[in-house]
Amino acid sequence: MTLWHGRFESSMADDLWNLSESYSFDHVLWRHDIFGSTAHVRGLGRAGLLSDDDVRKLEGALNTVAEEFASDTFVKKKTDEDIHTAIERRVTELLGPLGARLHTTRSRNDQVATTLRLFTREALTNIANASLNLCASLVDVGERYADAVLPGYTHTQRAQPVLLSHHVQAHAWALARDVERLFATRQQLNVSPLGAGALAGTSLPIDPSFTAHDMGFDEAFANSLDAVSDRDFVAATLFDIALIGIHCSRLGEELVLWTTSEFNFAALSDAFTSGSSMLPQKKNADVAELARGKTGRLVGNLTSLLVTMKGLPLSYNRDLQEDKEPLFDSVRQILLVLKALAGAYDSLVFHEDVAALAASDPLLSAIDLAEWLVEQGLPFRLAHEHVGELVGRSVREGIDLRTLVTADEQLRDAVSLLDEGVSLQRRRSPGASGPVAAPEQKKRLEARLSALKKSL
Ligand code: ARG
Repeated sequence: MTLWHGRFESSMADDLWNLSESYSFDHVLWRHDIFGSTAHVRGLGRAGLLSDDDVRKLEGALNTVAEEFASDTFVKKKTDEDIHTAIERRVTELLGPLGARLHTTRSRNDQVATTLRLFTREALTNIANASLNLCASLVDVGERYADAVLPGYTHTQRAQPVLLSHHVQAHAWALARDVERLFATRQQLNVSPLGAGALAGTSLPIDPSFTAHDMGFDEAFANSLDAVSDRDFVAATLFDIALIGIHCSRLGEELVLWTTSEFNFAALSDAFTSGSSMLPQKKNADVAELARGKTGRLVGNLTSLLVTMKGLPLSYNRDLQEDKEPLFDSVRQILLVLKALAGAYDSLVFHEDVAALAASDPLLSAIDLAEWLVEQGLPFRLAHEHVGELVGRSVREGIDLRTLVTADEQLRDAVSLLDEGVSLQRRRSPGASGPVAAPEQKKRLEARLSALKKSL
């Protein structure tokens, strides 16, 4: 028998049951649902709707159910429609008539919204933690190879030499913004919907702000219709995760390139690569490809929820049950990706010599020649044109740029700018990629990351 059978003469058709049950996927919410129900019970006690003794007994029964879930001994009944009804059914089995008081003033509509907010709040913190760990692994690659240089690229064409530490820190900044976004979402969702009832509140004397604070929410809802129909926090979380996924995907793509024989800038450890079932020599960067590949479904999960929410009238509609699987999937997948990528970077070997050779092409210092001419008073456009002509000749006629610069009346005193490392050393503007500007950037990144860690 379901918990809402009173109004019905016959039971639900199997085909509808199969369509509507959600226990098969929402059972993962057991801990958050019991946490919310415990606060609810205390709220009923405070409102005088339960005696102190009833509160104690209901709390005890909820605790027992939690222990059953934790030890994997909870027995699901065929009629358990979702995690909420399963827990209430079990509490009633344990306590008899008192269990029938548990749902006083509450609907599954405010219950599920509360439970999901509690789940999402915790998930956001876990994802922020894993993102910060990946940041630390990236920053650490830069520290392990403190002097390493590689070409910086635009359009995937070599552009200017950059420090490896500068390069990996660029990725860390993106992740730091992601963590800020997760915290902003966490802050916005921290409002309790419990007490909204089915949609319009209750005639009984409850105090939603009491239960809100009991569960660590900043405040209780102001509008009961909004409280049960709002899934913005799920959409925001799915967006936050999709964007982290996109950043991980960009990291993945870069690792794929770096570990090709053609680039050979880096090697992943055996523990973070896999072989081929046919080709004995293969060592594949599957971790990077999966980081890239998982992003498709993360974006899909966001799209799925946005489309589900579009056009829904107020307030709760059963469509909203479709919020869970995309959310659970995105949370699970992004944690897997973040952890595996961190491990991959922790054990990454950077081929400093190969990357340095790629960055040593004198053409990558062409801008330094132009800027030197600017220092001599030449307008930048003319300086650009002058150096561009030399570069063009060097490429077309196969003459080393150094030879052409030495022979050039205006530039001959600047030939040493083409020496390895000089370009990087001279790039000292704030936030630039050279060693002169590096300490200040590192300080700023460290300050940001440690502030974020404190907010976990
Ligand atoms: N499992 C449902 C969900 O996730 C619970 C709410 C059902 N409410 C209802 N009025 N049928 O949305």
